[in-house]
Amino acid sequence: MTREWLRGVGLLLLVASVAACASMQAKEPTLYERIRAVDATGTTRQGRDAIAIVVDRFVANMVADHRVNARFKGMPGPAVEKLKSNLSDQICQASGGSCSYYGRDMKAAHTGMKITEAEWNATVENLNTAFDQAKVGERERKDLVAAIAPMKGDIVGQ
Ligand code: HEM
Repeated sequence: MTREWLRGVGLLLLVASVAACASMQAKEPTLYERIRAVDATGTTRQGRDAIAIVVDRFVANMVADHRVNARFKGMPGPAVEKLKSNLSDQICQASGGSCSYYGRDMKAAHTGMKITEAEWNATVENLNTAFDQAKVGERERKDLVAAIAPMKGDIVGQ
């Protein structure tokens, strides 16, 4: 083995370890990795389970809210369960989790409903109450609201 060859291998190893170190530092945890939620028994969950806890609370708040619940009146139980599962998949995907949302896009799902600004605000309120109930962290609440906010144009007034 020549000295040059050994030097070459040494240099390659150095470049590879510096590159690996740089990529490790660049990786910030996603919202999906960070989110935590407390269920009804007081147990803290993470990942899609945490999202499902928030969605469960959120949908219960929507159904109990006279400002928006006419929208969900007469929806059969299995349809409500499907809506919750779709919402959990959608949020899981949007927050960087390895889930896939197979429901309709937001424009298709809400077209014809003529959802008002007041209903949108009531919905955000119900989401914030769900965050309180599930003891979601401040940073994760903000990030989740920021992930949903761009959908407003496809949901309100369609
Ligand atoms: C916070 C923003 C919102 C998000 C992320 C969202 C998301 C969704 C999703 C994922 C579905 C299911 C689509 C499918 O199964 O193909 C859905 C359906 C529905 N959404 Fe929304 N939605 C939002 C706001 C609202 C608002 C403000 C209302 C009314 C007050 C509303 C009323 C409904 C209703 C009634 C359905 C059922 C439609 C059907 O089954 O035909 N949504 N939404």
